[in-house]
Amino acid sequence: MPFEIVVGAQWGDEGKGRIVDLLSAGADFVARYNGGDNAGHTVTVGLQTYKLHLVPSGIIHPHTISLIGPGVVVNPLTLISEIEALTASGVDASPSRLRLSHAAHLITPAHRALDAAQERLRGAGQIGTTGRGIGPAYTDKTSRRGLRAEEMLHPERFVLRMAEHLTAANRTLEKVYETELLMVEETVLKLAGCAEFLQPYIAEVGDEISQALKNGRRVLAEGAQGTLLDLDHGTYPFVTSSNPIAPGAFAWLGLGITPAERVIGVTKVFQTRVGAGPFPTEVFGEEAVRLRGTGANPWDEFGTTTGRPRRVGWLDLVLLRYAGRVNGLTELILTKLDILSGMPTLRLCTAYRAGGRTYERLPLGPADLSPFEPIYEELPGWSEDVSGVRCWADLPLNARRYVTRIAELTGVPVSQVSVGPERDQVVDVGE
Ligand code: GDP
Ligand code: IMO
Ligand code: MG
Repeated sequence: MPFEIVVGAQWGDEGKGRIVDLLSAGADFVARYNGGDNAGHTVTVGLQTYKLHLVPSGIIHPHTISLIGPGVVVNPLTLISEIEALTASGVDASPSRLRLSHAAHLITPAHRALDAAQERLRGAGQIGTTGRGIGPAYTDKTSRRGLRAEEMLHPERFVLRMAEHLTAANRTLEKVYETELLMVEETVLKLAGCAEFLQPYIAEVGDEISQALKNGRRVLAEGAQGTLLDLDHGTYPFVTSSNPIAPGAFAWLGLGITPAERVIGVTKVFQTRVGAGPFPTEVFGEEAVRLRGTGANPWDEFGTTTGRPRRVGWLDLVLLRYAGRVNGLTELILTKLDILSGMPTLRLCTAYRAGGRTYERLPLGPADLSPFEPIYEELPGWSEDVSGVRCWADLPLNARRYVTRIAELTGVPVSQVSVGPERDQVVDVGE
């Protein structure tokens, strides 16, 4: 089956957007399967930089069809601004190229208000959510009181349902969180306008993908967030509210058990995380500034969605091995090799130490990483700028050794390495 999945192998922001853009050159359909506008996927093509939150990163290639799957939670306001921004930059994001699943749940201003209120109440135990209403929207979904995209096809009922939903949220905002209330009438009117705009986009996305696969068309599934933010398999409770892992693509696109030709884990050559939660290989001070950058470059480690500085550290191979298992990765694509140029010594966390024992695998999953101290292997760095390299043999020997060592220590082959954010800044890994 010509079906491929791109999944984040860390805590998100691995460079999935640019890799999906790259692989979309050979795809007919690109489908987002989880999350919402908490995602920020960057695609750089020449002087243009696209920041995508809901629309699949395949949209930039004019031959592709982009699908937003039933497992995604969609803020209609964000989706419309994104469609408008794409149109303004010359990308066709009309219903002939972009479809939204009828079963996708909607994120409303009530969900965003609840997200903010819940975070405030958590105090020191904050998760550091993106504030996009993701948790409350998935909560409404699992509580079986959410609003789905298909409701936008029935304007009269939609208005009533939305008013009911906002009024109920106002009761909670007032009584539980003692915070500002939403203007029900004004908000309903605004969302009714969105519904009218989005109606032509609503479709049976799962069926479209199944038919496409039957007809031999190539489908690429795009994950948002990353393995370690997975609700069930991540660093709980410092996770998101969906299943970014690759098996999520099958359930959330409604595909049954369809063999995937490739399950591609995207990982940076170091480690980053935005928001709270455990991070055993985190570094601070000057070392952190060196990996993060100062914000002078567009690719420096500041959140695409929220602008927050990302926490940074050394690549954690215990966690990457785990990502290999829970996703069933067939390969890894590494990003940001160029950032390591000029660092004299590089470190890879090969195992953890706790209570006098060494662990190469997590004894109880990644939720509580506090007992563990990383064990590092040191490798010599390289001084050359690699951003202009396009061929494996032209990479400095130590860069090739670093990449090869990651494959050896994870047991997952590395197929490509990126050396800059541009479409062509990619090297196929050779012998
Ligand atoms: P995503 O959420 O996984 O799609 O990743 P983001 O777009 O949030 O963050 C990745 C950032 O790294 C973006 O600014 C990309 O343009 C940038 N990027 C991706 N690959 C490379 C690379 O190989 N080198 C450099 N310097 N930047 C890269
Ligand atoms: P992409 O797709 C990085 C993080 C938040 C927070 C936690 C829960 O660009 O890789 P949420 O708003 O989802 O309830 O926040 O998850 N988070 C991300 N971190 N990249 C993302 O998406 C993220 N989406 C959510 O920072 O720690
Ligand atoms: Mg991102």
